[in-house]
Amino acid sequence: MDDFKGRLTKDGIRIHDSDGFAGMHRAGQLAARILDEMAPLVFPGQTTAAIDEAIERMVEEAGATSATIGYRGYKHASCISVNHVVCHGIPGPKVLKDGDILNIDVTVIVDGWFGDTSRMYVAGKLGRKAERLIRVTHDALFKGIEAVRPGNTFGDIGHAIQSFVEGHRMSVVRDFCGHGLGQVFHAPPNVLHYGRPGTGPVLEEGMFFTIEPMVNLGRPETKVLADDWTAVTRDKSLSAQFEHSIGVTATGCEIFTLSPAGRFHPTWG
Ligand code: MF3
Ligand code: CO
Ligand code: CO
Repeated sequence: MDDFKGRLTKDGIRIHDSDGFAGMHRAGQLAARILDEMAPLVFPGQTTAAIDEAIERMVEEAGATSATIGYRGYKHASCISVNHVVCHGIPGPKVLKDGDILNIDVTVIVDGWFGDTSRMYVAGKLGRKAERLIRVTHDALFKGIEAVRPGNTFGDIGHAIQSFVEGHRMSVVRDFCGHGLGQVFHAPPNVLHYGRPGTGPVLEEGMFFTIEPMVNLGRPETKVLADDWTAVTRDKSLSAQFEHSIGVTATGCEIFTLSPAGRFHPTWG
């Protein structure tokens, strides 16, 4: 037994009610608003530590809590993953240079509910290959989201993402996945960004989880650096990621982390 309400499916996935949707909406909207406000802070000459400090300050000003500070020894309010860093990049004194692409990933806790989202940014001028990678990764997330409705399976989501990405001759990272969340950061199921239609747990109304595909221009293999966090592409190819937290509704899904400013993709507005 645990203290949370809502039943668990046979796959151990919690089914939430309308209070859960309301809580996730508030948490998701704070995380998304923080990412909106980071756009002007990304420029050549800026450090990733300065961006992280601004995020930590915004979380505090909102009266919320960072889910990542203290998580398994992690010390920062965000992960900032530049160029060939796939995910879990640690903010630091690294100075951004013209043409760098970066993912900023923020998770906040509001009244006990977790909002987890990430998106891509560009320092200075976006290169042609990087632009293609970012567009395909963004659109792959939405292919996955379009597969979310009761009766479909998690394999349907993974298949939608994988077939789209590979159709553009890019690769889906296998070593990291999305996850259930709610009043905990990481819960069942593992949300794979590849798979076969009709496989995996069946989606039900009230399930909350992230979809967060990482896409590489080269090979899918990754390795984790000696800092035990930073994951990079083994072949040094560029990598991109977008992440939304969503809840399954009767007819599809609610995206909790939609950008209030309509700024999710870096080349919009
Ligand atoms: N936000 C990441 C995710 O999407 C997890 C980051 S954990 C950290 O699941 F400790 F690295 F911050
Ligand atoms: Co996540
Ligand atoms: Co995240």
